[in-house]
Amino acid sequence: MSQLSILFTSFIILLNSFRPVAGGCFTSIFSFGDSFTDTGNLKASGTSNPIINFPYGETYFHHPTGRCSDGRLIVDFIGMHIYISEAACLPLLPPYLLGPDEHRDFRKGVNFAVVGATALEISFFVDKGISLPVTNYSLGSQLEWFKLLLPSLCSSDSECKNVLGNALFLMGEIGGNDYFNVLGDGRSLEETKTFVPLVVNAITRTLLVPGIVPFGCIPANLVSFRSSNSEDYDQETGCIKWLNEFAVYHNLLLIKELDRLRKMHPHANIIYADCYQAAMPIFQSPEKYGFQNSPLLACCGGGGLYNYNSSCLCGELGSTVCIEPSRYVSWDGLHFTEAAYKIIAAGLLQGKYTNPPFTKTCALFETIENLEFSRNTY
Ligand SMILES: *[C@@H]1O[C@H](CO)[C@@H](O)[C@H](O)[C@H]1NC(C)=O
Ligand SMILES: *[C@@H]1O[C@H](CO)[C@@H](O)[C@H](O)[C@H]1NC(C)=O
Repeated sequence: MSQLSILFTSFIILLNSFRPVAGGCFTSIFSFGDSFTDTGNLKASGTSNPIINFPYGETYFHHPTGRCSDGRLIVDFIGMHIYISEAACLPLLPPYLLGPDEHRDFRKGVNFAVVGATALEISFFVDKGISLPVTNYSLGSQLEWFKLLLPSLCSSDSECKNVLGNALFLMGEIGGNDYFNVLGDGRSLEETKTFVPLVVNAITRTLLVPGIVPFGCIPANLVSFRSSNSEDYDQETGCIKWLNEFAVYHNLLLIKELDRLRKMHPHANIIYADCYQAAMPIFQSPEKYGFQNSPLLACCGGGGLYNYNSSCLCGELGSTVCIEPSRYVSWDGLHFTEAAYKIIAAGLLQGKYTNPPFTKTCALFETIENLEFSRNTY
């Protein structure tokens, strides 16, 4: 942990000394997180998981890339926005585990996120007898990777100022796996809540920090935590109230901690991205956004009320995929479709759900719809 605190301290120092220049726009992204952000690290690690199978990736890439969606993720849309503002046609954010090559210049940014990653160290779960089914790469491992990579990104002060000074550090979404590993182990909500301060502590201290999404509207959770008590459900959306309240609880603590960090480091640029509020309108009025099916129904899955079946996951034999993913909010019962991610990302980029607003930190703004982009993929 002490090595990590040193690294965190150096983050803050870097942020303090190198404010974004050139109209406040970012020129590269370094991102950390879990399946909401992984652009191919779990796949590159060689771990077997249904997300490496078709139909993952069918919409945009036309093949599985290791992203947990039919197409692009929020990080891809943010990357497109940032890179376009540099007037350069750069490839999408490369996963760290593939290593740099002539197509992957890590100085333009790199993605450390891994599907299944936890904010807390693996030992925390091992000590409690809780197993981590998907990956052992925690946020700590991802920060270690960044530390290892740093010397190859820049050597002199002025070079580092260029590479890191205008970089956006995207920290999350992360924390969901921490909670669901614990809840999935049959532990109580009360016990799980005691971990929230630890998780929040592990996440904070960097630039763009997304909050977690409405847990209670995720098909897999609607199946796992289904209830015969109609009072457990929100009348308007059909989402599970206590899970959404739990997500809000996490986000409130995160906002509070970010406020504290801003006061401690007034020159650091810390942005909170409210993914919960950015996603909620989709569940309240799906038709307004072109989602003709229930937003609680997964496009790809193994059947059941929400088309999520843990014994027959999307990408596994026997699962089926919808014809038009763009009409669905949930891709595989756990993650969103590209269409939903695009709406959430647009809300964040327009500044409505970011604090301080994105538009204030970057003078140049292009709407996502206008972006054409290189489809170099990993
Ligand atoms: C994580 O590490 C443990 C202990 O070394 C190992 O038994 C387990 O298989 C690993 N899990 C994954 C998903 O790699
Ligand atoms: C879930 O998948 C299993 C295995 O394919 C199958 O036996 C079961 O009937 C499915 N459940 C639902 C609700 O579709």
